[in-house]
Order: sequence, then C-alpha cells, then structure tokens
Amino acid sequence: MIPVTQPFLPPRIEYEEYLEGIWQRNWLTNDGELVRELETKLKEILQVSNMLFVANGTLALQLAIKALGIKGEVLTTPFSYVATTSSIVWEGCTPIFVDILPDYTIDPKLIEEAITPKTSAILATHVYGIPCQVEEIQRIADKHNLKVIYDGAHAFGVKVKGKSIFEYGDISTCSFHATKLYQTIEGGAVFTKDKSLFKKLGYLRNFGHDGFDRFNGVGINAKNSEFHAAMGLANLKYLEEIMLKRKDQFMFYHKRLSHLAVSLILLENLTSFNYSYFPIQFQSEEELLKVKAKLEDNKIGSRRYFYPSLNKLDYVAGQVPLAESISKRVLCIPLFHALTYPDQQFICDLLTESLK
Ligand SMILES: Cc1ncc(COP(=O)(O)O)c(C=O)c1O
Repeated sequence: MIPVTQPFLPPRIEYEEYLEGIWQRNWLTNDGELVRELETKLKEILQVSNMLFVANGTLALQLAIKALGIKGEVLTTPFSYVATTSSIVWEGCTPIFVDILPDYTIDPKLIEEAITPKTSAILATHVYGIPCQVEEIQRIADKHNLKVIYDGAHAFGVKVKGKSIFEYGDISTCSFHATKLYQTIEGGAVFTKDKSLFKKLGYLRNFGHDGFDRFNGVGINAKNSEFHAAMGLANLKYLEEIMLKRKDQFMFYHKRLSHLAVSLILLENLTSFNYSYFPIQFQSEEELLKVKAKLEDNKIGSRRYFYPSLNKLDYVAGQVPLAESISKRVLCIPLFHALTYPDQQFICDLLTESLK
C-alpha cells in the first residue's frame, strides 16, 4: 500500500544521541533544554520574532483565541481541517463561515460583507501552504478593529513579500504533526510579533504559572516534551533536503497531470510555496470517487482533504456554495519524502487512464 502521507524519520542513531542527553539530565518536559534549543533554532530558520513550541497545532489555535480574548463571532474559512472550526467552538465563540476564492483561501471581499457588531476576529487558514491575502485581510481588520489569527498548520517555510508568513496577523500558528512537512511527532507553534502577547501565550501554555507559587490568569497545559523536541532537532538537519525533494516530487506530478481536465494549484500565482500537498480538483464528485476507487484498487491511498466543507459539521451553521462544491471535488494524492518517482509515475498513469 502506498499511503497518502508518511512521516520523515531521521536516522535512528541521531535521535538516540538526543536521548542520551535526556537520560543524563533526567529532565523530560517543562521548558527543557531541548525545547529551548528547538525554539531558538526554528526562530532563526523561519526568521520569526517570537515563537513557542506547543503540544500540537490545535492547542496552538486555542491559545491564540484565548490570548487575544476573542468573544462572539469569528469569521473563518470552511475549507480547512476540522481543528480550525472546532477550536473556535471549543473556546466558546461562534464560527461564521466566509466562502473561499478559487485558490482555496478565504475571500477577503466576503469577509468585509460578513462583519456584524458581534464580529471580533478573523481566523483564516493558509490551506495547503497557499498564503491568504494577508495584506487585504489586515486592511479590513484594521478598519473594523478585528483581531487576526492565521492557521498556518500547512505553511511551514512559506514567505510573503520576503517575510515569514508567520509574522502576519496578531498570532499565527503551525502544526508539526507527524504527517506534516516538518514533524516533531506531535507538536505545533504559536508566533506573534507582539512582546506582551508572547508573554501571555507563555503563561497560557504553562497553567498560568508565573514562577512556582504565583499564577497569571487561567492557563492550560500546552507544553511539549524533550522527546518531541529531540525529534524536531534531529529532523532539522534534513529540512533543506526534505523541502527540495518535496518540490521535485510536486513538479513531477504537476508536469504529468496538468494536461488532464482537472484543476491543480496555480503555481504562477505563488511567489513562495512549500509544495506540501498535491490536491487535484475534479469536475465532479463522481469523477473524484471513480479515481479514488481506481487508486484504492491499486493499493494507493488518497484523502479527501478537506471534506466535508466545515459549515456542514453538525455543531455549526452557514452556507458557502463554492467551498461546498470544491470540497466535494478535491482529492490529495500521495506526497511524502520516501515516495519514489516510479510510484509517482504509476499514480499519474492510473489518473490519466481513469480520466480518459
Ligand atoms: C489546517 C489545520 N489546522 C490545524 C490542525 C491541527 O494540528 P494538530 O494535528 O497538530 O493538532 C491541522 C492538522 O492536521 C490542520 O491541517
């Protein structure tokens, strides 16, 4: 079986070298040496002002909402992973879905139309690593005094106008889940340029602790461990190789599939991209299901990222025609470091054959 994704693992010996230090220090979690080292190195690699390593990308979103004191309605994208919506609901806010553009990101024009006196924030996703229209969104947020959070779970390494994408918005988040381009097993991060927000996020991540016996507000346990940081550190050595290979693999598919009657990510619109997913948009759901079945018959995994459109979850409401239509017609095909070119060619042949 060829899976749709597979984690990149560093050579085991290199991970074990970090374990040696963990055993020597006998320090497993709580702002350990490796967590700090990972934060320092990632800050430099990503060129961000501030970042905190957290337990996962979902808690990162929840911390962001909490830190900004967001209440009421949050304008958000329906085309994302469920965590984007569930975090809003989990924090006691109401997601208001705003339809997307053909490039899969939230439509700024529709954001402005959806603003009501109850709106307090915008939570948008750089889905598949495709940047949202960050400048236009900030203009709208400034005009209407709204906070902006970006779910950058897919956007590791992406830049906008030469700046890390994580520097945009009040707070940005990322996921380092095992299936992501860069992984720490479970893990994620929050990023903000604002020093006082950064301090607040630090309290929130660690139960509100301000020293051993003092507390600064209500907090949660969103810390991550030395073992997860060790995986992240061991993977850093391979980051460049992973990103270059991913681009080659992406282009391999792109070249061989662009003549088919499907829509692929429009690379000409992107000045910086991380090639993290390969979504194919079919003309109909029937076509998608036919291709998916053909791939399955040949032991090839694929995933309907992202289906259903999040407004269809049974705990929310709203109508977003384009997102609903696109989410029924998008399929992601295998893309991971160890995927071979012959396997990619086989996948392309199957797709070509079933779309004949
Ligand atoms: C868009 C998006 N947001 C949030 C998350 C949640 O991240 P995590 O799995 O690290 O909690 C994911 C994870 O897959 C995601 O794809």
